[in-house]
Amino acid sequence: MSTSSETLWERIQRIADHLLARTTVKPTTGIILGTGLSGLADEIEVEVSLPYEQIPGFPVSTVEGHPGKLHFGTLGGTPVVAMQGRFHYYEGYDMREVTLPVRVMKLLGIERLFLSNASGGVDPEMEVGDLMVLNDHIDLFPDNPLRGANLNELGPRFPDMSEPYDKALIARAHKVAAGLGVELREGVYAGVSGPCFETPAEYRRMRIIGADAVGMSTVPEVIVARHMGLPCFAMSVITDLGVPGRIVEVTHEEVQAVARKAEATLTRIFTELVQVG
Ligand code: HPA
Repeated sequence: MSTSSETLWERIQRIADHLLARTTVKPTTGIILGTGLSGLADEIEVEVSLPYEQIPGFPVSTVEGHPGKLHFGTLGGTPVVAMQGRFHYYEGYDMREVTLPVRVMKLLGIERLFLSNASGGVDPEMEVGDLMVLNDHIDLFPDNPLRGANLNELGPRFPDMSEPYDKALIARAHKVAAGLGVELREGVYAGVSGPCFETPAEYRRMRIIGADAVGMSTVPEVIVARHMGLPCFAMSVITDLGVPGRIVEVTHEEVQAVARKAEATLTRIFTELVQVG
């Protein structure tokens, strides 16, 4: 929570100062771990882990599958700060809260942001369990995190979005995956508010407007990161299919279970990728 007279900029600085006083790690990469994908945290040589409730000013995560901890340490030798559990719009947070940690991470010194998520595949070539690297997104959230007074300290009023996902990192991800013998898809992610999954007609619409997958996160965080000039890299685990003829009932438990199965591969790709550049 913010104190009553505090501005958003002051709040972000206050949280960053609090965190910097508690770790010697100087993170160069920020990582946000999605639903069922928190296992990457086990690969981090952790110096400090802070539950979100213990970070004054931080929002608090509530949803199952999102334990809610900030880890400082090294991943494959690279200093990182990793969010185990993110804040979703569907939980009731407004866009400022959803994206606040990304702004804090920028003040901690990160130079790029990695994100993972679970999503529904709408490309008919997809299978459950596939991994997809995001090369673009379509923002279907009802609000934009940059709406309102611009934080001039962080970025411009009208930020460019011509390269939302860093092309060099995407190219490297394909090389890393090939080296691991893993098939990696690439495509466009549509971000929706949720919390309900799509109807068949809504999945069909996603395909028509140019999406390959649909999920309930990532887009707000990437918008805020790009506002601050941070290169982004994001990967989806396809946990269910929104493809005509193949749509079945989907539950959060299934989404988590599929994500967990794909987690090891995703973790290996992220771990190799943070070590380059
Ligand atoms: N739709 C939206 N969000 C999701 C889905 C889906 O099918 N699967 C996992 N997250």
